[in-house]
Amino acid sequence: MTDLLRPYSDTLAASAREGLLRRLPETDTPADLLDFSGNDYMGLARRPELVVAAAEAGRRFGAGSTGSRLLSGNTALHESFEARIARDKGAEAALTFSSGYQTNAACIAALLDRVALGAEPLVFADRLNHASMHLGCTLAGVRQLRYRHLDLAHLEVLLENHKGDPRPKFILSETVFGMDGDMADVAALQALALHFGALLYLDEAHATGVFGPHGYGLAETIDLAPTTVVMGTLSKALGVSGGYVACSALVRDYLINKAGGFIFSTAPSPLTIGAALCAWELLPGMDAQRAALLARAQRLRAALRGLGLDTGASTTQIVPVILGDPVRTVAARDALAAVNIRVSAVRPPTVPQGASRLRLGLSARHTDADIDRLVRSLGEALRGL
Ligand SMILES: Cc1ncc(COP(=O)(O)O)c(C=O)c1O
Repeated sequence: MTDLLRPYSDTLAASAREGLLRRLPETDTPADLLDFSGNDYMGLARRPELVVAAAEAGRRFGAGSTGSRLLSGNTALHESFEARIARDKGAEAALTFSSGYQTNAACIAALLDRVALGAEPLVFADRLNHASMHLGCTLAGVRQLRYRHLDLAHLEVLLENHKGDPRPKFILSETVFGMDGDMADVAALQALALHFGALLYLDEAHATGVFGPHGYGLAETIDLAPTTVVMGTLSKALGVSGGYVACSALVRDYLINKAGGFIFSTAPSPLTIGAALCAWELLPGMDAQRAALLARAQRLRAALRGLGLDTGASTTQIVPVILGDPVRTVAARDALAAVNIRVSAVRPPTVPQGASRLRLGLSARHTDADIDRLVRSLGEALRGL
């Protein structure tokens, strides 16, 4: 091996020693495979309507967008989907991106831009926010003031401590947390943001489709202030791929001008926008599926707790089984895989040290019998470790 490549092999070897090596999962799907490793919460990814909508969008607008939205990639389909998102989120405007990761990186970096703001902003962030939110801060060269997870009293103390500081303030939080399955109080967050004059940025990646009176996320339950920006993904409950922000018309115009991940990247394909618009329109009619999904999650948590397992503070369709040790977590995942049950083993740095876990993502496609099989098999797997 050349010396140039040695740092990479050394890094991989160190990850393996610590039980943190990542590998792509098997691609074969046995007939009785039970999959809890995905985010297809509403079971839409394989719905025929979405595939038909993608094909129809492709026929009208092409398979690819051919360029950035600012060049050749803007279509009536993108514009009408954004108008629909804005309306349903109670915002003035919306903007779509090719992934949720790109949405966060691009929008947060642009909103925190110290040239535009005239000063380095003060950023208050939940300490368990997603990696793509951290990336946005890193791109802006901004240090975050982390508050304890979901602890709004702690956030308030930090805001109070900086009350006299003239620098612009921002609060960043997920609404449903992707690794813990717990929920932020979005009304309280917006009230704090308004009280302390901070811009609020909410990530609804795991709430879109599952929560809200029409399934459009937890922020659907509040009157969005013009200083609240809400992002979400099209890749989880909507079953497709991409991301969006819902915001004021002013912020949309600003992002179109300043968000690098929007300006310098090809517009999302009409195929994905067509499918995502179809999924978006299906959501309000899925109340029964949402209720059943959350009831099944509740049943799962109760059964896991009955086995003495720690499901953290989950109250949603995401149920962690916190085992602590990464090696034991991987062994449990592999034991389940051996009986054709797929779950994710989530380890540091995705979660804090000592908090390795199996992450169970429920879908409207699962049945009560699937949950029973999972619980039985997990109990057996853990007894065998
Ligand atoms: C909270 C959160 N935000 C953003 C993203 C990125 O979304 P995408 O997978 O669409 O890139 C994820 C993905 O896991 C996420 O969990």
